[in-house]
Amino acid sequence: MTSHLIALKDFSKPQLASLVDRALALKKDALAGRRHLNLAGRTISMLFDKPSTRTRVSFEAAMYGLGGQVIHMTSRESQLTRGEPLKDTARVLARYVDAIVVRTFGQYVVEELARYSKVPVINALTDLYHPCQVLSDIMTVVENKGELEGLKIVWLGDGNNMANSWVEAASVFGFPLTLACPEGYEPDADVLQQAQASAEKPIVLLHDPVEAVRDADVLNVDVWASMGQEDEQNKRLDIFQSFQLNTDLLGMADNNAIVLHCLPAHRGEEITDEVLEGPQSVAFDQAENKMHIHKAILEHFIK
Ligand code: CP
Ligand code: NVA
Repeated sequence: MTSHLIALKDFSKPQLASLVDRALALKKDALAGRRHLNLAGRTISMLFDKPSTRTRVSFEAAMYGLGGQVIHMTSRESQLTRGEPLKDTARVLARYVDAIVVRTFGQYVVEELARYSKVPVINALTDLYHPCQVLSDIMTVVENKGELEGLKIVWLGDGNNMANSWVEAASVFGFPLTLACPEGYEPDADVLQQAQASAEKPIVLLHDPVEAVRDADVLNVDVWASMGQEDEQNKRLDIFQSFQLNTDLLGMADNNAIVLHCLPAHRGEEITDEVLEGPQSVAFDQAENKMHIHKAILEHFIK
């Protein structure tokens, strides 16, 4: 398997499926009280430039749960803030730790760190991708639906980092994906084009939320303005209004449809409180699953 986790497109279906299977097994073991100290004596560095609740704590809990140690640092606390090059930072950190988990703005940052790091670099969200989150989303779908085969999976809202990683997941896993985004807010054009070119099943981009949601088995939503887009928040409230996942829209999906949200949620914007707290929402299991998938990722990538 590729030595860094930068984007889902770098992997094959069996490779990603094995991470999901391992995470499901680790979850069962954790519930049964079985612990695996497979990373005892190992250390990761977390380099975060954006806020995080789930990703930070679930990576830290995963690493400690496997017997390892974590060193967390923001770029502001590091010499990066004073202009030290990424390539020097990568080469130095790689001499101290066994993996570097990065949350930042530009995808080029994780790519540059990976180019120079001798230890795995793991993408914990950039403006372009959120690959680890989408692996826990897929784990949550498999946990609830048994398999990906035969499902109508829908992305509703902004064509953001989450949407881009879902597009790549559809191409790698070979499941059909329907996206409904407002015009001008589609997924990254290159990501979409590349994924569609190699996908076995259709990746369809629509602009009508009602058409997209009809008979869906899995509905995915995320905030309308991602981190770094705070200035556009008010403008987006108007543009995205018809994409809100409320009981009316959910009623058009299959009766047993599940609702995914990577959180944090803005209730009353992309999702209503009723839907997020309702029986079809699996958002909090999905949040828990981040810890199990992060264990599987750390276990796999740290040699
Ligand atoms: N879903 C997710 O990545 O949440 P955080 O921003 O809290 O890490
Ligand atoms: N698209 C969101 C995901 C947050 C986990 C963002 O980038 O802010």
